[in-house]
Amino acid sequence: MPNPPAKVAIFISGTGTNMAALLYASRAEKAPFEIVLVASNNPQAEGLALAELEGVATFAHSHKGHSREDHDAAMEAAVRESSAQYIVLAGYMRILSDAFVERWAGRILNIHPSLLPRYKGLDTYARAIAAGDSHAGASVHLVTPELDAGEVLAQARVAIAPGDTPESLAQRVKLAEHQLYPRALAEYVARGSDPEYLYARVAELALALPETHAKDSHGSPGFRVGTEKSGRFFAHFSVRHHGSEHVAVLVKTSGMDELHGLTESQPEVYFRPAYYGASGWVGVILNRPDVDWSHVGEWLERSWRTAAPSRLTRQLNAAEPF
Ligand code: GAR
Repeated sequence: MPNPPAKVAIFISGTGTNMAALLYASRAEKAPFEIVLVASNNPQAEGLALAELEGVATFAHSHKGHSREDHDAAMEAAVRESSAQYIVLAGYMRILSDAFVERWAGRILNIHPSLLPRYKGLDTYARAIAAGDSHAGASVHLVTPELDAGEVLAQARVAIAPGDTPESLAQRVKLAEHQLYPRALAEYVARGSDPEYLYARVAELALALPETHAKDSHGSPGFRVGTEKSGRFFAHFSVRHHGSEHVAVLVKTSGMDELHGLTESQPEVYFRPAYYGASGWVGVILNRPDVDWSHVGEWLERSWRTAAPSRLTRQLNAAEPF
């Protein structure tokens, strides 16, 4: 069964042509995202009128006379109300507070009109022309507290013509942006349910623990600690097993009481897996939008400790900071 489309809020400040490109892309059959809110710091933003015309919920709150934190809080409340899972900045000309960005880490995207890491900030077209670059372009990236510095997800190159002005170049970069952003967003929201991507993340964490290796068990990938010959499993990777919808990593709890407590109190995060559940393994669900990977890492380490020989756990304890 395909995943339901990811819910996306778009922040704009102006014309909102990228917002329009995303909105119309979301209307294509089988689009992996839907736009549940268009919000702006500028009540006069042209894009708001288009969103309204298209029946998308809108929210406008001028930043004037408000602190950054207060303005961000109002925007965030609107996002939560819309139940959006991702925030997409499309010509949103405000810097978000660090706390806001950290709360939404991995779930805010931005488009920037340059080939990052070149030309962060403003006047990107004029700077590319002045530098004599052969190409300008656009980048879709994750938003982190440092301006225009998060992981680049996708880029489009646009040739600079001999007589280009910043305005003529900007027009073509916009055309490229309109193609790039919907595709980059579609790929990004899909990766959270792509077993290959999720496996790679788990493998990276699991294999960073001492003396570990990957090994299949009953046809599913898993991770063991110890030698290739006599190692013990501390994690199993499970892809929609036995009718379950989950892509998950199975890790060892302290026993049935803990397993039961976890699956009862946080059914959106934990489930009791078939077979393994009987011996105290819990499934940590990975195909959901707000996976906390450091939490997954902690579980893997805990599970590793239960399976590792004591010479290795002693080593790890000694290496830990006081
Ligand atoms: C876009 O070109 C986008 O790359 C840029 O603002 C424009 C918004 O146009 N964003 C930035 O400069 C962010 N630093 P739009 O409102 O027509 O989508």
